[in-house]
Amino acid sequence: LAHAFIIGAHFIDQDAVTLILGDNIFYGQGLSQTLSRISNQEDTATIFGYQVTDPKRYGIVEFNSKGNVLSIEEKPRQPKSNFAVPGLYFYDNSVVEIASKLTPSQRGELEITDINRRYLEAGKLKVEIFSRGFNWLDAGTKDSLLDASNFVASIEKRQGLKICCPEEIAYRKGLINKKQLTALAQETKTDYTDYLKTICTQ
Ligand code: G1P
Repeated sequence: LAHAFIIGAHFIDQDAVTLILGDNIFYGQGLSQTLSRISNQEDTATIFGYQVTDPKRYGIVEFNSKGNVLSIEEKPRQPKSNFAVPGLYFYDNSVVEIASKLTPSQRGELEITDINRRYLEAGKLKVEIFSRGFNWLDAGTKDSLLDASNFVASIEKRQGLKICCPEEIAYRKGLINKKQLTALAQETKTDYTDYLKTICTQ
């Protein structure tokens, strides 16, 4: 994962950067507000913590009683907590240089956890906890993909609202207008475009 900052250095240029893993799904109230608040922070890194039952599969953060981070480890054999680090990371621009100085881990990868440890050592790592009402799904295995699909399907069926419909988001944010949304809804005839038509009539 850390390699992404080397490959993407030209694209990142002088900017701060957010990395989100393609097999991670986040769902919960207030998420977009949280993300825009964090994206305005400078000279720092922000990652998240989320309680899981299988901590050996993830990067794990350990806290003291005051909630300060004591350590961060990648897939520990003896996890010091059950707080996994989801695949959503916010960094200032120094991440590019930090990544370029990493050496591969035992599994032969440049580890995102090593980047996070550098920020921790420099006193620049913030960890925000996703609380129990929040849902982080990892769709990286067949089983977890099925769990994620069932979760999304049950909410969408219950509410009649789609989770992360890019056209709807663009429309509600004013990035496209009703005419453009209507045109997108006409492109094919599926349940998905039927949904876009209902948005157009609101
Ligand atoms: C990666 C990171 C790990 C993180 C996880 C989240 O694991 O290395 O720290 O907790 O993503 O999905 P990997 O997908 O390489 O097993």
